[in-house]
Amino acid sequence: MSVNKEIKRVTTHILQEMKSHGEKIAMLTAYDYSMAAIVDAAGMDIILVGDSASNVMAGHETTLPITLDQMIYHASSVVRAAKRALVIVDLPFGSYQGNSKEALNSAIRIMKEAGAHGVKMEGGVEIAESVARILTAGIPVMGHLGLTPQSIYKFGTYTVRAKEEAEAQKLREDALKLQELGCFGIVLEKIPAKLAKEVAESVHIPIIGIGAGQHCDGQVLVIHDMLGINKAFKPRFLRQYASLYDVMNDAIKNYIGDVKAKDFPNEKEQY
Ligand code: KIV
Repeated sequence: MSVNKEIKRVTTHILQEMKSHGEKIAMLTAYDYSMAAIVDAAGMDIILVGDSASNVMAGHETTLPITLDQMIYHASSVVRAAKRALVIVDLPFGSYQGNSKEALNSAIRIMKEAGAHGVKMEGGVEIAESVARILTAGIPVMGHLGLTPQSIYKFGTYTVRAKEEAEAQKLREDALKLQELGCFGIVLEKIPAKLAKEVAESVHIPIIGIGAGQHCDGQVLVIHDMLGINKAFKPRFLRQYASLYDVMNDAIKNYIGDVKAKDFPNEKEQY
């Protein structure tokens, strides 16, 4: 039996129930109204307004440049489209680390100005104070451990994280800490499947994986990657469900051809 079949809006409580019933949680990114409307209508549980917008929407090399104002712009467009999905928004780099008061202000802006349903933050014990302060305002917080792209200059590479025992142990402790603080879920990015399974079994909150194997409570992907809009990015964990780059490229080339050939518009396509 599906826990969330007939519900009006997915909530953090429903996600918790889904985990308890062994029902997998589907999560996908979206950054604009039209795409979010398609994702929502398809029955997505969580829409993530990821700071991956910095890469796929703005063309930056990393997620670091995107600003809080830009995230609020993307998030408010997505919220207008999402009738059923829970909309979670990434707190961007520099808006929460090292200053819990600023973190709370950033989260409040996202909730108030974009109408989001919760925020996601990268890191474990080192951001505990910020997580705790945001939670005191009644704002749902999702953690993000493993490969945390906002720390890419510390890691130096986008390779699999926590393969060594010391890093794996820190990740286990961070997951427990985030649960203890009151996070409603955690994203685990690009870590060994065995470790992700262990973490998913050790906490009662949902664990959503990306490149973290099949034993997580749910999965998340960047929509441009899974739709094949971005041709260059093909990591092992990515399953591509369409080749929209090719579909769009063909359509655009056909349009150019029709215009040049004076075939478009024809008599039926004019007033
Ligand atoms: O920004 C993002 O899209 C993310 C996902 C990769 C989890 O954080």
